[in-house]
Amino acid sequence: MTTVAILGAGRVAQALAGRLLEARVVVRLGARDPIAAGRTLPAELTGVPVVPPPEATAGAEIVLLAVPAGAAVAAARAAGDLTGKVLVDCTNPLRWDEGPVWAPPREGSVAQALAQALPAVAVVKGFNYFGAEIQRDPRLAHGPADAFFAGDDGDAKALVLDLATRMGFRAHDAGPLRNAALLESLAVLWIHLASVGGVGRSFAFRLEARA
Ligand SMILES: NC(=O)c1ccc[n+]([C@@H]2O[C@H](COP(=O)([O-])OP(=O)(O)OC[C@H]3O[C@@H](n4cnc5c(N)ncnc54)[C@H](OP(=O)(O)O)[C@@H]3O)[C@@H](O)[C@H]2O)c1
Repeated sequence: MTTVAILGAGRVAQALAGRLLEARVVVRLGARDPIAAGRTLPAELTGVPVVPPPEATAGAEIVLLAVPAGAAVAAARAAGDLTGKVLVDCTNPLRWDEGPVWAPPREGSVAQALAQALPAVAVVKGFNYFGAEIQRDPRLAHGPADAFFAGDDGDAKALVLDLATRMGFRAHDAGPLRNAALLESLAVLWIHLASVGGVGRSFAFRLEARA
């Protein structure tokens, strides 16, 4: 049985945890202040362990990173020995200038910065370019939301594609980790449309072929 750890206990962590529970995946949240984080959890997550990050990742095959982008590398480093695990980077490096602006680190994307900082860990980028509402429930009017994942390790990416499929997404391989930059940029478009663009947060991009 797959065990998934989530680093962070905020909106994204809670949404993905709820989705994972529905998919009957064992999930643990890793928080720097587990007691405080535990108090913020919705009723549906009652019983989900909220523990220090190294405890959450021990025994987990997949670790979802759901902290601010600027804290991503430090949070991953503080999460115990992640050697051999798959780290899914769900973060978005943004600043705000009358709308969202992509502000990646010098490595090209947060995911690439993680891969350079943690060479023994297979980094995959994904779940980042739609809001927590879609992470919690990927069902759209005409089918499930598409979820693209970028990464250089084929086995790791296959594991994440399978997990996302079990969570109810239509999962796609988005190519090598350098394409994480595209997924971070796509998040900027989503946030622009959702906020400045007035579309609201109940949408996701769909890959649709001609009939
Ligand atoms: N919200 C969305 O709809 C959405 C969608 C896609 C992607 N994202 C991305 O996902 C990430 C998380 O977003 P969110 O909305 O879940 O944020 P959030 O609700 O503010 O939660 C952030 C979590 O990260 C923890 N954290 C903050 N600073 C930390 C640090 N220095 N070290 C370790 N943990 C730290 C917080 O813990 P404390 O309580 O201890 O501060 C909290 O548990 C961001 O990168 C965001 O861009 C967000």
